[in-house]
Amino acid sequence: MDLEELESLRKQAKERIEKINNEREWIDTKAYYLGKKGIIPSLLSKLPKLTQEEKKIYGQSVNTLKVFIEELLEQQLKTIKEREIEKKLSQTTIDITLPGKFEIRSGTVHPISQVIDEIIDIFTGMGFEVAEGPELESDYYNFEALNIPEEHPAREMQDTFYISDGFLLRTHTSPVQIRVMEKREPPLHVICPGKVYRRDSDITHSPMFHQVEGFVVDRDIHFGHLKGVLTEFLRRLYGENIGVRFRPSYFPFTEPSAEVDIQCVVCNGKGCRVCKNSGWLEVLGCGMIHPYLFSVVGYDKEIYSGFAFGLGVERLTMLKYAIDDIRLFYENNLSFLEQF
Ligand code: DAH
Repeated sequence: MDLEELESLRKQAKERIEKINNEREWIDTKAYYLGKKGIIPSLLSKLPKLTQEEKKIYGQSVNTLKVFIEELLEQQLKTIKEREIEKKLSQTTIDITLPGKFEIRSGTVHPISQVIDEIIDIFTGMGFEVAEGPELESDYYNFEALNIPEEHPAREMQDTFYISDGFLLRTHTSPVQIRVMEKREPPLHVICPGKVYRRDSDITHSPMFHQVEGFVVDRDIHFGHLKGVLTEFLRRLYGENIGVRFRPSYFPFTEPSAEVDIQCVVCNGKGCRVCKNSGWLEVLGCGMIHPYLFSVVGYDKEIYSGFAFGLGVERLTMLKYAIDDIRLFYENNLSFLEQF
């Protein structure tokens, strides 16, 4: 057997394999050399006819050629694939200035957040600062310290989500009054926005809703300050000409207490379904801070006095935008949310 023939086959194979430039050709070439009826097997088929001595030399040489071809093929396959990737990359230039395939809608600020921001703006404009408290609250801060002892009927007014012994989801933001007063000394002008929770659910009640608490403590604070601040607040929120009235009421943590009504924003006070023909809408609760709270936090009630108020953000927002179902705020319906 001619070893020179093998050498020329080797050269030929190298040339041929290095010219391959797609996978189809690669498969054909591999079959041509290594396939069942390919060159290498046909060379090996000659072995039986050779002498023992020839077999050894020839067999080894064919095998070396086979390995050479296999390695060359693998190398070439890699090269082809790399070239393909490069080709694709060079053809696909990305134009980042093209408009996207999908419409990206910009988000909007939730109406409740908008009204909270507006409330914060109004009060900080009057010199108030903002404080926050925990939503998971203790019975002590939510009730006890606010002069709502166990068995007090006011606990029934607020259907509470209890978490574990002594802990609950706060039913109002009033506990923040205690938390702030405990830590600091007057003068204080603070509002406390936040989430509150009650076991209640219908078109005007949601198990989670938002309140803003506010309070002022200083020397010589009287009911006139309370009326002035709240009237000014409501005028800024609902417009200069909104009618405002204070009605006597009861809260355990204020004495005296009042509820504040605004003239019905739907009928301007004439009487309609929304205001149940009274011409007025209740919007917040307030009063002079009960001396009991001062004793709890260690303030001298002979020196200091204060007022407090609490308002429901959902209710104020519903009145501001004539929304008649509170659940709309929580359904995440974009066509509703985008209107604000
Ligand atoms: N905490 C009361 C509630 O959730 C609202 C309230 C009423 C807060 C009178 C006050 C207040 O600070 O003085 O119903």
